[in-house]
Amino acid sequence: MSFAGCAETIWQAVMALQQPSLAGFSVEILPEIDSTNSELMRRARAARTEPTLLVAQQQTAGKGRLGRAWASAPGDSLTFSLGLLLQPGSWDGLSLAVGTSVAGSLHADIGLKWPNDLWVNEHKLAGILIETTSVGTQRYAVIGIGINIAPQDAQGFATPPTCLQALLPQCGAAQALERVALPLLRDVLQFEREGFAPFASRFAARDVLQGRALQLSDGLQGVGSGVDAQGALLVQTAGGLQRVGSSEVSVRPVTYGLSPL
Ligand code: BTN
Repeated sequence: MSFAGCAETIWQAVMALQQPSLAGFSVEILPEIDSTNSELMRRARAARTEPTLLVAQQQTAGKGRLGRAWASAPGDSLTFSLGLLLQPGSWDGLSLAVGTSVAGSLHADIGLKWPNDLWVNEHKLAGILIETTSVGTQRYAVIGIGINIAPQDAQGFATPPTCLQALLPQCGAAQALERVALPLLRDVLQFEREGFAPFASRFAARDVLQGRALQLSDGLQGVGSGVDAQGALLVQTAGGLQRVGSSEVSVRPVTYGLSPL
């Protein structure tokens, strides 16, 4: 399947939702751009806030979390961003809801690593980068998703990558986009109406940190104890249950070591 064919299918399915907030929705496939997130943020700052699914066949300056780069080779990856005006009661838990949506559309064996990585067997399959900007009294959200489709070069990764074709051998980037796009839009709109609560149990079912010894980049150590109603990570430490709300910290399971609590 080509991206052009899948763009049309997605557009028709989204139009069939007849959602007033999705009026003017478009699907754009670009051969190359620095970053789909950066492009939608630039457009929003220029008051172009129509709902857009922007796909790049190649990113030349893909962005990851915590100021990292997101490298992806054309054909081996799916890189796209969804941009739209959103007015949720609270933004807490949006990245967890997005991860839950994407994992749920792809495969039962995909786990979620707080706050927004998709993992399979300790290897990173996909990442999510959400950015927002004010537009008048409203906020425009850019939800960027990068999914490894075919085997990746593992050099330089803190967490070794895996790819979707290890789970779904016939699935290319366009097929993956067609699987995730419509459910993602529906789930983002549900998040806008209802917040993180409807996603909490589905997140918990895929939570790869639950019950594991964890090391956080701010020095905290403890055992993963799920997430709270706001999507904050709960860590059982020697000093009691700690709530980690900031997505500015990174967390990883400790395979060996951490003294018993
Ligand atoms: C991470 O795991 O650090 C987040 C990675 C997010 C990558 C995607 S690819 C599409 C979109 N455009 C970007 O520049 N980044 C996101």
